Amino acid sequence: MTTLVDQFGRRIEYLRISVTDRCNFRCLYCMPHEGLEWLPKGDILSYEEIASIVGQLAPLGLRRVRITGGEPTIRPQLESLIAMLRAVPGIEDIALSTNGVKLEAMADTMRAAGLDRVNMSADSLRSERIAAIARRSIPFDPVRAAQAAQNAGLDPIKINVVVMRGINDDELEDFARLTMEHPWHVRFIELMPVGDLRSLTWEHVVPSDEIVGRLARIGALRPTGGPTRGNGPAKYHRFDGAPGTVGLITPMTHTYCETCNRVRLTADGRLRTCLFGDHAVNLRDPLRRGEDLGPLYVQALAEKPREHALLQMQVGGLRALSEVGG
Ligand code: 5AD
Ligand code: SF4
Repeated sequence: MTTLVDQFGRRIEYLRISVTDRCNFRCLYCMPHEGLEWLPKGDILSYEEIASIVGQLAPLGLRRVRITGGEPTIRPQLESLIAMLRAVPGIEDIALSTNGVKLEAMADTMRAAGLDRVNMSADSLRSERIAAIARRSIPFDPVRAAQAAQNAGLDPIKINVVVMRGINDDELEDFARLTMEHPWHVRFIELMPVGDLRSLTWEHVVPSDEIVGRLARIGALRPTGGPTRGNGPAKYHRFDGAPGTVGLITPMTHTYCETCNRVRLTADGRLRTCLFGDHAVNLRDPLRRGEDLGPLYVQALAEKPREHALLQMQVGGLRALSEVGG
């Protein structure tokens, strides 16, 4: 099968698929309190349409997909999409990004449908604080959710923590200690103060070097050297003898654009070749007209930007990262 390489020699094998722009949370760093102007139903791709797009891109080198949102598990019958994607020849890996609220209820069904692995967001281990950050009080315990995912056979289990100074950075050590007891990968993400966020600024960003410095005080922490199975840019460390790892994702202090292997599909069927920036190619309308998407995809990859301008705070066109599933 073909492998597609963009104009800078990057192999593009990984598609992040947003299945809804809605969410049952309103995380401080992600969505305004009042929500966003949601997409009309008719604009949103059906599961059949998503599977058809993936089916057309797989022969062009697509190998791995991730289902994102908004919050993907609030869209009904997500397991049927998973099953359709599993049936596409050439797709080797199907992952899900979720806030974890529905994991206990859905992990077994999604695993049975063909889901391989899961990334769960968790910004606190304390219920009141979870509600304060998510601005919704939905009772749920991130540790139980991760355990349910593990019991269902999803592997690896990654837990993403967006670190915010003065808001949840006093829990870094508690999160890191989870990796001493569980085979989980806890990843600390530098806050990106982008979009319409009013309450979070650069002062809330905790650089990853500071995080690693603090964690080294609770145990001997060594770089793992190799990557943990996945597609992302995290750098991993492990406490001596620990079953899990600690990862750092550093959008604010480093850029990964050089090794970027991914593109994104929005819930309404636009292909974004860079997380940031104003370009997007409409695949939905050509798909609905029965056209071949291959040439559009090849063209979009040829125009994938070399790098984004996040560090200059130019995020063009995005109101919130929930629009593209992070
Ligand atoms: N800064 C950092 N990460 C973010 N995410 C969303 N918004 C931001 C932001 N402003 C990522 C986080 C979150 C996932 C849904 O998207 O990883 O857990
Ligand atoms: Fe929802 Fe995830 Fe955004 Fe939080 S970060 S509002 S859980 S999409």
